[in-house]
Amino acid sequence: MSSQYEVLGKAPGAEDLKNLSSEDIHLTIKNLNAGYGKMEILHNFDLFVSKAQSLCLIGPNGAGKSTILHSIYGFTNIFSGKIEIDGKEITNLTPAEKLKSVGIAYILQDNSVFPDMTVEENLLMGGFIKDKTEESYQEAEKILDKYERLRNRRNQPAKVLSGGERRLLEISRALVMKPSVLLVDEPSIGLEPRYIDMVFEILGDLQKNEKKTIILVEQNAKKGLEFSDIGYVLVSGQTAIAGRGDDLLKNDDVGRLFLGG
Ligand SMILES: Nc1ncnc2c1ncn2[C@@H]1O[C@H](COP(=O)(O)OP(=O)(O)O)[C@@H](O)[C@H]1O
Ligand SMILES: [Mg+2]
Repeated sequence: MSSQYEVLGKAPGAEDLKNLSSEDIHLTIKNLNAGYGKMEILHNFDLFVSKAQSLCLIGPNGAGKSTILHSIYGFTNIFSGKIEIDGKEITNLTPAEKLKSVGIAYILQDNSVFPDMTVEENLLMGGFIKDKTEESYQEAEKILDKYERLRNRRNQPAKVLSGGERRLLEISRALVMKPSVLLVDEPSIGLEPRYIDMVFEILGDLQKNEKKTIILVEQNAKKGLEFSDIGYVLVSGQTAIAGRGDDLLKNDDVGRLFLGG
């Protein structure tokens, strides 16, 4: 992770990052130091994102991108710093509490569909944590109404789905809990190109029409930055460059290091 990234400019400060979101910031990370066991991976990390905005984290392998999502969701050790939703501190809530009370959903990087359960049963698994299962049924029904690809196979085992349909099911399952924030780790990984576009269309619809806040990690930096309002380039647990997605696509350092240009 050494010399080639040293050229990356002076790290942006909290004010620079704040200026990339609108007035009403939905999720805030302030001066976070977090990691696994005693090992600190994220150093004085800040993040600001508004309601219905999308933010993409790019950067080399091992930079700590997934660790940011894990920290928001509650899978890491937080040594210091704060995470807030609408100004309310949530740093130490459990993942279940975050899902239930503040609406943060985490969409797993690896294949997490249950192959022998039907599409509908998989969807309902997303609501297992909710008290009112009736509400989960209603949400599942809304999702099936919306996505024909899932509706047509609602009673078939999930293993019959294509790669793209499985990813759609993974995303939809998180929606059963009606989250306001979606944490999405590498949605394009392992997908054929035609499905990658489908997945980004679905995420775009959720952002624009359902006002979800989306924080995304993406190896495919071009796709991720094209999709997102905001991009952060993470290097060794710190943000080296941040900007509007469009601007980062034109940034020479980003181009050379991450866009193969
Ligand atoms: N569960 C874990 N336990 C211990 N170390 C981990 C764990 N997950 C990731 N790490 C370490 O944290 C660092 C950042 O990893 P990660 O956030 O997955 O990077 P990225 O997503 O940017 O590729 C790496 O050095 C990795 O080995
Ligand atoms: Mg990762």
